[in-house]
Amino acid sequence: MNNRKPFIAGNWKMYKTAAESVETAKKLACLVSGVINVDVMIAPPFTALSHVYEAIKESSVMLGAQNLFWEKEGAYTGEISPGMIVSSGCRYVIIGHSERRQYFGETDQTVNKKIRSALNNGLVPVICIGETENERDAADTFNILDKQIKMGLEGFSPYDLEQMILAYEPVWAIGTGKTATSDQAQEVHRFLRNLIETLLGKKIAGSTRILYGGSVKPENIGELMSMPDIDGALVGGASLDAEKFASIINFKS
Ligand code: PGA
Repeated sequence: MNNRKPFIAGNWKMYKTAAESVETAKKLACLVSGVINVDVMIAPPFTALSHVYEAIKESSVMLGAQNLFWEKEGAYTGEISPGMIVSSGCRYVIIGHSERRQYFGETDQTVNKKIRSALNNGLVPVICIGETENERDAADTFNILDKQIKMGLEGFSPYDLEQMILAYEPVWAIGTGKTATSDQAQEVHRFLRNLIETLLGKKIAGSTRILYGGSVKPENIGELMSMPDIDGALVGGASLDAEKFASIINFKS
């Protein structure tokens, strides 16, 4: 047994207006009001953040952003600073999601800068890593993850990263309906925990929550959560519906 509290997060991606986000968030807060053994976070689009914050601030549901830009302010049209995110009520920020890497040119270097900026502003980074299908087929999964972790976390001390959350999201499982089997996921989570131990020490390795992401749904969460190194989930599609997401949060393993 470990004492890592499960963390289940919903990434709403580019879905829902502010009004729709508030409606789903309120419903969710109601449905999970009795849950004390799981940390619950939702990441609605930027335009909904402060509205959702007002709607859920008295509840146990916590708020996160889906991305940030590392500068404090400046002529960066279309970007959102960490201070703006904090002032919208967020405690968390998702960094390096595979869709950002795939469509918006994010690299391990930009991920590194974003982590630094999140930490400097008191935000907890939820750092996403994962291999593509081709990389898995080429038996390259562990090399890719090793590189993503080493470059993404370069220059940080164990103290800096005490609160970080990692999310292992195999790219081939995101939005495809294909979930990694619980054994496949466990194998990778174990690898990641060992890597964190080598880089940052036993204490951080033991306390870092490593989430699984990629087609998580009510039907597979129990089995995933029964694995010793899987500490939660980053849920896309199935988090858009409050009832479905609540049944994931109420998983039984
Ligand atoms: P999915 O997305 O649950 O829809 O596969 C997961 C994610 O992208 O975080």
